[in-house]
Amino acid sequence: MYIGIDLGTSAVKIVLVNQDQVVVASMDRPFATDRPKPGWAEQNPGVWFEMVAAGLDELASKNGNQMAQVSSIGLSGQMHGAVLLDKYDAPVRPAILWNDSRSAAEAFELNQKYPELIETAGVRAMPGFTGPKLLWLSRNEPDTFTSASYLLFPKDYLRLQLCGERSTDVSDAAGSWLLDQRNRSWSNKSIMACAAERLTLPEVFESAQPTGTLDPILAKKWALPHGVIIAAGAGDVASGCVGVGAVDDQHGLISLGTSAQVVVSSGTFQPQTENLVHTFCHALPDRWFNMAALLNGTSVLDALSRWTGGTKVGSMITNVEKRFDRPGRLLALPYLSGERTPHNDSEIRGAIVGLRHSSTTEDITLAFLESIAFSLADGLAALEVGDNRPAKMALIGGGSKSAFLSGLIASILNIQIVKHTGAELGPALGAARLARLALTGENFSEVVTPLPIQRVFEPNANLHQQYGPRLKEFQRLYKALRDDFGSDSV
Ligand code: XUL
Repeated sequence: MYIGIDLGTSAVKIVLVNQDQVVVASMDRPFATDRPKPGWAEQNPGVWFEMVAAGLDELASKNGNQMAQVSSIGLSGQMHGAVLLDKYDAPVRPAILWNDSRSAAEAFELNQKYPELIETAGVRAMPGFTGPKLLWLSRNEPDTFTSASYLLFPKDYLRLQLCGERSTDVSDAAGSWLLDQRNRSWSNKSIMACAAERLTLPEVFESAQPTGTLDPILAKKWALPHGVIIAAGAGDVASGCVGVGAVDDQHGLISLGTSAQVVVSSGTFQPQTENLVHTFCHALPDRWFNMAALLNGTSVLDALSRWTGGTKVGSMITNVEKRFDRPGRLLALPYLSGERTPHNDSEIRGAIVGLRHSSTTEDITLAFLESIAFSLADGLAALEVGDNRPAKMALIGGGSKSAFLSGLIASILNIQIVKHTGAELGPALGAARLARLALTGENFSEVVTPLPIQRVFEPNANLHQQYGPRLKEFQRLYKALRDDFGSDSV
């Protein structure tokens, strides 16, 4: 039996998986993000561990027999966060998250001053990444920064609590802008450029390596056996690929949660930094992935639900689906948090145009659903896959729950979308698979297999054709508005 823990941005998800790779129990615990200033996003690492502990308490009380058979735990988590600890391992400030844009000026400066580091890091510096945040902290919070001794990434803070080790894995280190992606090890030049040389960075492991054993007191508390291994694990994107078994160039992945990613894996390191593609170390050895990283996934639907009085997102989509027969008349931009690929624009915000007296909530919902699919289409185009595009893309994350949205994505991107059973739990499943590999040392191909297919969404050729001009209008709308949002916009 294996445990996978995925520390997301809005919740932690925990799965208990048996020898046949069947999920026997799962639970999640939500938590909030603090936004102390426009463009900032922070969370308290202590809350992450409280939520994990509460989740494991629940599993121990409901699934005691299965917990007694657990032999390893894998970790997955939100990437790019900066968790700074003092010499006693206490956080010196709240963690700064992946969707925090305070370090836009530092990211710009890093690209100007150190263009040679862009290829090393596999991507241009962007404000979401850890390195530019460290540079910002060194300048704007020098006292806090000098009180920090250690840097960790979010899921690695959980590891420290679980087994006392300060380590990470290559795929999470990949999101820091401090890693040499080709050599899968820290880059001293990048560390110096980001003013991080005074911090002790975590030791980097391959994702399926063991990094320690669970603290015996915690093991007892959660009815777990002695000596449970903690696997290195992976950043949530790589872990999601492992979870559904989409780890080669023919099986792409779209992860559609709060944020969204379009990912194609590869056996070679082939950076495409011009298009703002991220080329990061994968959770499997000698493998990398190319990713279009979108800051805005289904978050725009959650926001729309708030704006319209709290109707559930699922019912909003059902209401659209009932009437849908062609592209909508309104056009929206989903960029509530700015955007990474393909724009690297931390200031752009969402928009909706074309409203008229007869517009309905369903028209607005459809426009935002389309805007999500349009930005995924931009992401796939940025990956420059052209004729070599994968035959199909697995869809995971909360967005995969909607058959209507899945079909819309298939038609707009003109690609087969595959929903695997358990797709919503992708990164947590990937963490459980990595836990298993760390324990057994099995061949990856025996464990990282595609999950059973629940449903396939074929593109509708007619709709694809109708959406062609709308996608161009969407791209034009971004260009028309991009200069109109200042840095103090919320
Ligand atoms: C990937 C990214 C997100 C975060 C949060 O580059 O920013 O996936 O890891 O999910």
